[in-house]
Amino acid sequence: MRRASAHAPGRINLIGEHTDYNDGLVLPVALRLGVTVETRGSDDATVRLTTDAPIAPREASYNLGDEHRDGTWVDRARGVTAMLAREGLPIGGFDAEISSDLPLGAGLGSSAAFAIALLRSVSELFDLALDDATSVRIAHAAETNFAGSRAGLLDQLASVYGRRSEALLIDMRDHAMQSIPLAPTIELAVIDSGTRHEHATGGYNRRREECEEACRHLGVASLRELEERPLDTILERLPPPLDRRVRHVVTENARVRSAVAALRAQDEGTLGELLCASHRSLRDDYEVSTPELDRLVELAAAAGAIGSRLVGGGFGGSVIALALRGSAKDLAGRVLNGYSDGRLVAVVP
Ligand code: GLA
Repeated sequence: MRRASAHAPGRINLIGEHTDYNDGLVLPVALRLGVTVETRGSDDATVRLTTDAPIAPREASYNLGDEHRDGTWVDRARGVTAMLAREGLPIGGFDAEISSDLPLGAGLGSSAAFAIALLRSVSELFDLALDDATSVRIAHAAETNFAGSRAGLLDQLASVYGRRSEALLIDMRDHAMQSIPLAPTIELAVIDSGTRHEHATGGYNRRREECEEACRHLGVASLRELEERPLDTILERLPPPLDRRVRHVVTENARVRSAVAALRAQDEGTLGELLCASHRSLRDDYEVSTPELDRLVELAAAAGAIGSRLVGGGFGGSVIALALRGSAKDLAGRVLNGYSDGRLVAVVP
């Protein structure tokens, strides 16, 4: 029987949170950590999955063409195989062993990494010759049409095109990408709060609806169109909480641009201030932070971080803390002295 293996990385996002589904700007960096999927062809039409991740179920199986959601992580595999069929890309049954050194649900793009690794592995196994853009599209469709989250494209694009020592500036309006090297003076500690929130998908989808509602109020197709207009007059036209949501998105896009300039100028102080401002905006205006994430950000500031913020969708998950090169690990140690349930997941780059 044929075999194939593929890996796809998780990501941090330096800045630009909840901007992707608003046609905005994001700045992800790929992690070394990710998901590996080893597949072996079988002679029936069954998909059998096993995972080493601490997640239920550890084993699952279903028949191709009979993909029904059950609300577990297996829906992401079902979504991938159902989308391949819908695209007219024929596959047979297979066994897949999934291993991950990326914590799951920690705001680090684990769902997209799994879908991309599975697609790459299956593509090799069945000679589908999927290109990167198709993989991004199918992985995203699997997430949104099948797993029920209305996520944007940040995680899939970052997993496929992201680099470890560079940030990738992506303009979601046209998917134009530009590499922005990380200044040699900086590194980031990625700290998992250990908290996962049940209502994360509901809260995320609600934010997305609020942005759509704001667009209808303002008569624009996306919040990106507001970039050139005076913010105060726009916000006056919106009822709460839509005004706060829009203020986050518009100011966050501006912070991404400023962060790119700060990276180019090797101005870590300004970059740090931008990360802190992003966190405050996500906490107060977008309301996707949690007491645990706020606590980690406060501890990071007290421990001497140049800046810090929650990363990913929020409602639990991880924070990133900016430090001078060579000092992120010690910084994380000081933070975790005051927060025992957390864990240093990675130092970037
Ligand atoms: C999650 C989603 C992304 C993006 C971020 C927030 O990671 O999957 O599409 O919206 O949240 O920036």
